[in-house]
Amino acid sequence: MKILLLGRTGYLGTQFLTLYPDAVTPRVDIGNPEAVSALLEAEKPDVVINAAGKTGRPNVDWCEDHKEETLHANVLGPLVLLEECAKRDIYWVHMSSGCIYQGDNGGTGYTEKDTPNFMGSFYSRSKAWSDQILKEFPVLVLRIRMPFDDSQNERSLITKISKYSRLLDVPNSLTYLPDFLTAAKVLIERRKTGLYNIVNPGALSPYQVMQKYCEIVNPSHTIERLTLDHLSDVVKAGRSNCILSTAKIESEGIMIQPIEQAVDQALRAIATAKK
Ligand SMILES: NC(=O)c1ccc[n+]([C@@H]2O[C@H](COP(=O)([O-])OP(=O)(O)OC[C@H]3O[C@@H](n4cnc5c(N)ncnc54)[C@H](OP(=O)(O)O)[C@@H]3O)[C@@H](O)[C@H]2O)c1
Repeated sequence: MKILLLGRTGYLGTQFLTLYPDAVTPRVDIGNPEAVSALLEAEKPDVVINAAGKTGRPNVDWCEDHKEETLHANVLGPLVLLEECAKRDIYWVHMSSGCIYQGDNGGTGYTEKDTPNFMGSFYSRSKAWSDQILKEFPVLVLRIRMPFDDSQNERSLITKISKYSRLLDVPNSLTYLPDFLTAAKVLIERRKTGLYNIVNPGALSPYQVMQKYCEIVNPSHTIERLTLDHLSDVVKAGRSNCILSTAKIESEGIMIQPIEQAVDQALRAIATAKK
């Protein structure tokens, strides 16, 4: 199976490369139809994985001031891939996000059938727009939330929030990337299409994750609670806080470990690496 991986240098691209080390990974502007077409003609992949997109540096606030670039990569790019892959009957996979929802949907979590209800940042809107178009077509769309692993990658939730002094104490779905990769591999092997939430069951707040970090990794680390009404003191755009349903992925027979267990596993590996 020849895999073409787009966005290889990013956090998710790096992760996919551990799953598919033989993937071909040229850099092409995914919003450029001629370049994408030429690449697909040259490589003739069986599967395309799109882990390319604009996420903003140092965070999604960047997208508020770079709307054209964000739209180009997060909306036009997926549409170009949709058309170019369809022309050649190539199966493809797109990385999406749960950050298009706010809340816990009355305690049940948002399913793949729920309409996005968080439009508070341009980044979230760009992900919701592409996601809502792609769901009409035979594409596998994988939605993750606040991804983390046991690496020092600056994009891992644990690395990111270990640098913040104040943390929100609002529960969220989170995705432990080793579990994500296992689930994604099965869905890709089965050539599944449609939207799939891939998060660990349960929910934790960033504050709770860092409480565990203090217990397991660094007892001298200090943190403060940040309440939602003070969030706008530290960020420009709104942030989604949401819980996603795992019922659909479980209906595939893919069981993902609970979030407490996954966080514990990652933190213990981080603590061991620091010794
Ligand atoms: N990290 C998260 O919290 C998270 C959560 C949910 C979903 N996602 C989604 O997962 C995908 C990857 O996220 P990430 O965290 O890995 O992002 P990332 O670390 O910022 O990496 C983005 C990758 O996309 C490439 N890229 C950007 N614009 C491009 C374009 N127009 N054409 C081709 N490549 C382009 C970048 O390459 P260059 O550096 O060469 O530009 C880089 O390889 C995105 O769609 C994101 O929305 C991420």
